[in-house]
Amino acid sequence: MKKYAVIGNPINHSLSPILHNHWLKENNINAIYDKIKLEENQIKNFINKIKKKELAGCNVTVPFKKSVIPFLDELSFEANQTQSVNTIILKDDLLIGHNTDIVGFQKAIKSLKYTIKDKRIFILGAGGVTPSIIFALNKMGVSEITISNRTKEKAEKLKEQFQNISVTEWGKLPDFDVIINATSLGLNNETINLDFSNIKDDKLFYDVIYNPSETNFLKEGRKLGNKIDNGKLMFIYQAFEAFKLWHMIEPQVNNEILKLLKND
Ligand code: ATR
Repeated sequence: MKKYAVIGNPINHSLSPILHNHWLKENNINAIYDKIKLEENQIKNFINKIKKKELAGCNVTVPFKKSVIPFLDELSFEANQTQSVNTIILKDDLLIGHNTDIVGFQKAIKSLKYTIKDKRIFILGAGGVTPSIIFALNKMGVSEITISNRTKEKAEKLKEQFQNISVTEWGKLPDFDVIINATSLGLNNETINLDFSNIKDDKLFYDVIYNPSETNFLKEGRKLGNKIDNGKLMFIYQAFEAFKLWHMIEPQVNNEILKLLKND
């Protein structure tokens, strides 16, 4: 039986095993998918297990999406551009790092039937997921991207990777059409300390967080009359792309899947 896993720290919250094991069963694939909590100094050894075929592949989540890179043989174009890997495969005995968060985000936005082309985007947070979102937004032809992060230097550093972004002070709101929460604020019911009271009702509020399904950030966006969405479909579609890479099968994304991941 083939083995797959998601690695991260913490990892308990991860819904990847539920999703992948459902699809494995549905497609009669003789494999299991586990979640494994690692410390930074265990990554090398773990990835070696894929090389030795003790494991068939893995997903990578916070905080290891960058730290796995030195142990891989090759990166896909997207993984290299974002310096972020969330899926590892073994191909012709080479360990290859992919980034399926990018397509995950693109497909999630597409499913909203929201025209993001030529829109002004404001991203809160400059952590692990932000490069993938910027890369996807650039592919989708947005007109402006502004980033704000509590630790400003981290946002400034992203300019080395993405020349077209601007950075604004944490706490300030530029003009925007779409605001994206890519911070971890909201995972534990925190509010984001920004004054949205002057925001009109024609925006899109998008939260990468999907558990809870409606963070305070999304609640506020909704109360003001804006369109809102959480990161559930982004999560599902990044898993869909990883599944495709490992098994060459496109799994089903339907109501059953959405229900399977119902978490609050
Ligand atoms: P990492 O920063 O290790 O990549 P992450 O979970 O990918 O971790 O990102 C966390 C994001 O949430 C960061 O943008 C972080 O801001 P800092 O770079 O300043 O740490 C943001 N964040 C977390 N707690 C926050 C808080 N209390 N206020 C504002 N931003 C916060």
